[in-house]
Amino acid sequence: MPEAVYTHGHHESVLRSHRWRTAENSAAYLLPELRPGLSLLDLGCGPGTITADLAGRVAPGPVTAVDHAPDILPAARAEAAARGLTTVRFATADAHALDFPDDSFDVVHAHQVLQHLGDPVRALREARRVCRPGGVVAARDADYAAMTWYPLLPGLDEWLALYRRVARENGGEPDAGRRLLSWARAAGFTDVTATASVWCFATPEDRAWWSALWADRTTESSYARVAVDGGHATRADLERLADAWRAWGAHDDAWFTVLNGEILCRAV
Ligand SMILES: C[S@@+](CC[C@H](N)C(=O)[O-])C[C@H]1O[C@@H](n2cnc3c(N)ncnc32)[C@H](O)[C@@H]1O
Repeated sequence: MPEAVYTHGHHESVLRSHRWRTAENSAAYLLPELRPGLSLLDLGCGPGTITADLAGRVAPGPVTAVDHAPDILPAARAEAAARGLTTVRFATADAHALDFPDDSFDVVHAHQVLQHLGDPVRALREARRVCRPGGVVAARDADYAAMTWYPLLPGLDEWLALYRRVARENGGEPDAGRRLLSWARAAGFTDVTATASVWCFATPEDRAWWSALWADRTTESSYARVAVDGGHATRADLERLADAWRAWGAHDDAWFTVLNGEILCRAV
């Protein structure tokens, strides 16, 4: 089985970022496809805020949400319960090898997941297998090399180079956004709509949130541990990069975008 270690882990600083996500800000390209009664599989659901939004849109259709990390599922379950959703079930699963029969779901969705997999093409093949003919497989991933920001702080260049090195050492592909179309075609999809959309952080609130969570992720998350244990950075380096994030966040002109690739693949 292709293995990849989930680079970020589920430290609170990571979940601060995931919990901000909604269907509107993270899956807008998929929303026109959704309607009540469809069944949906969410791969790599994490803390499940997007899952819960999608479940609300397809209810009373059933939603299955899976993640490789069993420790995150209680949070995802709690999110669904807090919203009174009764149509979502959760399970541990590896997206590379799903334990579902062929043609099980109308929609298969994966947000910011393929970039972390050892074999994203295999996972897309699995998604195609479990998706009913006429259904859609939808995936969205950031492209780290295409992230752009102002002011041009050298510490952020260093942060990005380090992140991309560590993610690749873990078996993932941080510049996934630009590769999604090629992965979908390699997985056998012939009807693929490829688009892109950005997250832009430039208000005082967004700057404060984004800079603090990356400063904390840089020193506290699993990524920090792998960076140090793998000999890519010292603790002092990480502290310096976290300071660069804080300096960016304190700047009145600070602006940051995350380019996300998207694919909507029609199953036949
Ligand atoms: C960046 S998070 C995205 C979470 C959620 N989709 C969102 O956007 O908020 C990636 C998630 O994929 C999960 N993951 C990593 N490898 C996986 C695999 N092989 N199969 C299923 N899930 C996996 C991680 O545990 C993590 O929760």
